[in-house]
Formats: sequence, C-alpha cells, structure tokens
Amino acid sequence: MVFERSLLALLFVCANKAVTAQSSNFSLYAYGTDITPGIRLFFGDSLAYVGHSAPTFVKEAVNVTMSHITTDNQFLATPDGTLAGVTQPALYIDTTEGANNPVGFASTDDMPTGGNDTGFGLYGGWAYHLDNDGTIAMNFLASPTNETGIYLVKWKTSGATKASSEVAISLRTVSPVAETL
Ligand SMILES: *[C@@H]1O[C@H](CO)[C@@H](O)[C@H](O)[C@H]1NC(C)=O
Ligand SMILES: *[C@@H]1O[C@H](CO)[C@@H](O)[C@H](O)[C@H]1NC(C)=O
Ligand SMILES: *[C@@H]1O[C@H](CO)[C@@H](O)[C@H](O)[C@H]1NC(C)=O
Ligand SMILES: *[C@@H]1O[C@H](CO)[C@@H](O)[C@H](O)[C@H]1NC(C)=O
Repeated sequence: MVFERSLLALLFVCANKAVTAQSSNFSLYAYGTDITPGIRLFFGDSLAYVGHSAPTFVKEAVNVTMSHITTDNQFLATPDGTLAGVTQPALYIDTTEGANNPVGFASTDDMPTGGNDTGFGLYGGWAYHLDNDGTIAMNFLASPTNETGIYLVKWKTSGATKASSEVAISLRTVSPVAETL
C-alpha cells in the first residue's frame, strides 16, 4: 500500500506542473523505480509489453497509438502496421478481485474472462482505471520477461499479491525526451 500511496503523492506533485496538453491520440510510456524511464508500451501477441524493443518470443509485435474514446472511456489501440484479425483492439485489464494478470488488447466483443476495457482515463497525462467505487486506480506493474529490459505489463487488483520481481509503474503520455523534470 505504501507503494500506491507514494505513487499517488507523486501524481499530485507532477499533475500540478504538468506541461503537456492531453491530446486525443497518444503513446504510453512506463515510469517506475528500477526500470529505464519512459520505455514505450507496445502490442505483443495481444498482450501489453514495455521495453526498448519487442521480445523475440512474440510472433506479432507492433507499436500502437492510443485514442481515448470518451463514450465508454476506452483506450483503443491503432497499430503502427497491421495486425492479424483485429483492426483497433481495446486495452483491457483483469478487474477480478484478487487478480494480478497481464494487461492485453482485445476487441470489445471478444474480451477474455474478467477483462474490462471500459473505465480508463487520463489524469494530467497519467493513465488510470476507475475502481468500482469511483476512485482512481493506477495499479500497473512491470513483470520482467526472460529478456533483459523487456517487461510484461500487468494490473494488480487490490488484495492481490505481486512477485518481488514485479515493480509498480505508471503509464504516462509523456515521452522521456519531453520530460522536463
Ligand atoms: C486519432 O486516431 C484515430 C484512429 O487512428 C484517427 O482516426 C484520428 O484521425 C486520429 N486523430 C488525430 C487528431 O490524429
Ligand atoms: C516502436 O518504435 C520504436 C521507435 O521508432 C522502434 O525502435 C521499435 O522497434 C518499435 N517497436 C516495435 C514493436 O515495432
Ligand atoms: C469496468 O470498470 C468500470 C469502471 O470501474 C465499471 O464501471 C464497469 O462496470 C466494469 N466492467 C466490467 C465488465 O467489469
Ligand atoms: C521466454 O519466455 C517466453 C514467454 O514465457 C517463452 O515462450 C520462451 O520460451 C522463453 N525463452 C527462454 C529462452 O526461456
């Protein structure tokens, strides 16, 4: 919990001096302790990864541009290139109580069990999901893969445990080059 709290404190500090305007289309970059600041989020075999490049074990890897669709508060991903079987998948998290599962991409009508692609938003350029009770949650984790500097993105629901190798990250629209801190 200390983790989440410090992340929130940081959020409010940064939100106060946010310089970037929220645009409707954006990329997401990961920030957290012990990871290279601003590594980019991309699509890898329908799961979300962050890293300097795609892991070699995924068959299909593309960068994605996200659009915030305000009707259902979805983050739709437009691939930089083509994807087999899907044109604009939605980012989803598993909101099942106690789950700590990978964040992925799927069509709204083809969500995996527990997958929720609605309730996303940006707060000063920080990606969040609204909890059932309406509070802002930013419980993204970076879970190391077996390739250095490449992480699977996960969502840890409250009450779930995480492996010691998994680190809390925030996903932001601010790229490292635009970082002015
Ligand atoms: C945002 O992305 C959508 C989907 O690719 C595209 O239709 C739209 O033109 C883009 N908007 C801007 C402002 O680039
Ligand atoms: C995403 O874009 C970056 C910068 O252009 C590039 O280095 C990287 O290889 C791309 N990743 C994928 C998965 O195509
Ligand atoms: C997804 O999360 C939003 C925000 O908490 C909630 O309103 C919605 O009911 C959830 N959908 C599903 C299918 O759990
Ligand atoms: C690395 O992890 C991926 C995904 O779990 C797996 O498919 C692959 O076989 C692993 N590679 C090695 C060298 O262990």
